[in-house]
Amino acid sequence: MATPRFQNRTVVVTGAGSGIGRATAIRLASESARVIGVDVSRHRLRSLEEELGSSVVTIDGDLTDQLTIDRVIAHLRTGVHGLANVAGIMDGFEPTAEIDDETWDRVLSVNLTAMMRLTRAVLPQMIAAGGGSIVNVSSEAGLRGSAAGTAYTTSKHAVNGFTLSTAFFYTPHGVRCNAVAPGPVATNIEAPFRSEEAQRRLGPIMQATLPAIAKPEALASAIVWLLSDEASDVSGAILPVDGGWAAV
Ligand SMILES: NC(=O)c1ccc[n+]([C@@H]2O[C@H](COP(=O)([O-])OP(=O)(O)OC[C@H]3O[C@@H](n4cnc5c(N)ncnc54)[C@H](O)[C@@H]3O)[C@@H](O)[C@H]2O)c1
Repeated sequence: MATPRFQNRTVVVTGAGSGIGRATAIRLASESARVIGVDVSRHRLRSLEEELGSSVVTIDGDLTDQLTIDRVIAHLRTGVHGLANVAGIMDGFEPTAEIDDETWDRVLSVNLTAMMRLTRAVLPQMIAAGGGSIVNVSSEAGLRGSAAGTAYTTSKHAVNGFTLSTAFFYTPHGVRCNAVAPGPVATNIEAPFRSEEAQRRLGPIMQATLPAIAKPEALASAIVWLLSDEASDVSGAILPVDGGWAAV
């Protein structure tokens, strides 16, 4: 029997209450990781606790709140090997002229600023331990301009830049940083079409090109691979995990 890939390793997973984050937490626990699952929904985390028992420690809180980040760091007494920045929200497919400030601020704050703050807080421990692996969840919308509204598209392109810059600065310290870019995945994410212009312009493109909807486990598998030592020479990659959508 091969040694489990995450034996004696702690991995923080955000958005662990649902969808891709939940599947990632479950997969990591099945490979002996000690999982720290973070989500704004206490109710969803309780269900994860029921599934994983003592393999998971959960922290309920909004990641845009620095207090939540501080609580995560307080739980890393035995160091941290991995960080999966999965939590994220969609916009309402609003094109630029239709963006309201509230949507813009919330999408950028959850998808980008919270990711930066948690990564910034975790990095010193990874560096001190001689290495680690960070995986950010981007999106097909981070690869082009025709998969979401402007706020979400901007946030995910920024996630890619954040991933590359982090990889550039910290790979020499043993910390790898990569991103996965999912296509459509069957989760609880809300994606309301709030713009007629977007419906008119994006609708036909999506209808013609959208691949089959993936299961969250397919994303978890790629994320966990990047977190593991099997990807030991991979850093700064933005990996489409989208059933070939980016190739269209
Ligand atoms: N589902 C898709 O089709 C799809 C496609 C491309 C990219 N993504 C990305 O995948 C990631 C995961 O999304 P999902 O589809 O699994 O959605 P999901 O809604 O099922 O899960 C996301 C989880 O993140 C949590 N969350 C949201 N905001 C938070 C905050 N401020 N603080 C703490 N927790 C918060 C939610 O409560 C939820 O449990 C997101 O970054 C999303 O942009 C999803």
